[in-house]
Amino acid sequence: MFRPGLFDNLVVLVTGGGSGIGLATAKELLTLGASVAICGRNADKLAAGKAELLQQVPSAKAEAVFAQVCDIRDGEAVSQFVSAVIETFGRVDVLINNAGGQFPSPAEGLSVKGWEAVIRNNLTGTFTMTREVAVRSMIPRKFGRIINITAMVARGFPGMSHTGAARAGVENLTKSLAVEWAQHNIRVNAVAPGNNIRSSGTAQYGDHALELARRATPLKRLGTPEEIARVIIFLASPENDFVTGQVWGVDGGQPLWGDIWMIPDPNETSTPG
Ligand SMILES: NC(=O)c1ccc[n+]([C@@H]2O[C@H](COP(=O)([O-])OP(=O)(O)OC[C@H]3O[C@@H](n4cnc5c(N)ncnc54)[C@H](OP(=O)(O)O)[C@@H]3O)[C@@H](O)[C@H]2O)c1
Repeated sequence: MFRPGLFDNLVVLVTGGGSGIGLATAKELLTLGASVAICGRNADKLAAGKAELLQQVPSAKAEAVFAQVCDIRDGEAVSQFVSAVIETFGRVDVLINNAGGQFPSPAEGLSVKGWEAVIRNNLTGTFTMTREVAVRSMIPRKFGRIINITAMVARGFPGMSHTGAARAGVENLTKSLAVEWAQHNIRVNAVAPGNNIRSSGTAQYGDHALELARRATPLKRLGTPEEIARVIIFLASPENDFVTGQVWGVDGGQPLWGDIWMIPDPNETSTPG
């Protein structure tokens, strides 16, 4: 299915494409013939990602990769970035809203500032980028594929309630846009990685947390960014025309069974862990 040339003549914008899941997705897309635009806040991280793309995908020509610093929380920066991508490649056919981040905190310890920082990044930033790309390219051209990367939030996200609320918002947005923009030949889907993926984004939680996640996964292993990328790529590809408004989990079955967040038991004197 993922044959050479599958993404020929398609322009893909991957937010947060300089590392982790975004970078793995951009690599595979380049291999399949796409032109790829990536963005992130940190210029060094972005440059390293671009260099890796060009090095590891020898078939890709340098002009097939465009990278520019852009903070998706800044509406003006988003507008300038989308203009630069359209100037470079002529359009955006596929948007992968992958940029995001959060920090662990029990809800009672969250300041409004911390809450708003995560909501702006993981919900408002996704909306701003999506609206800009849709209005400037997808709606006028009557073609688009949008994939929103969320998280495993169907049963809440204890320990990171700010990102749970933001990602649930993106999943609801996914459904609204899938219906509103069906008339423009735009498909909108979400991919929800489990919290059991070994990637640059989960390194901050440490090996102990990842081991708990592994044990709580029926498949008894951690997932990889490449495994998330494959699902993103199917949904974004010309092989998918009839799936829209869906959230696909990629999590080794964890939501069906295991939980990582320990609920303190008031009847116990010591903390479980
Ligand atoms: N790995 C997992 O297990 C997992 C699970 C659930 C959800 N996710 C989500 O999947 C996405 C990718 O995760 P990952 O594991 O690949 O982590 P990652 O390496 O930290 O990727 C996040 C990327 O987004 C960029 N970014 C963050 N905020 C941004 C902003 N405001 N504007 C522009 N770029 C921004 C980061 O670059 P800069 O720092 O340079 O901006 C980085 O390249 C994230 O949204 C993450 O929360 C991951």
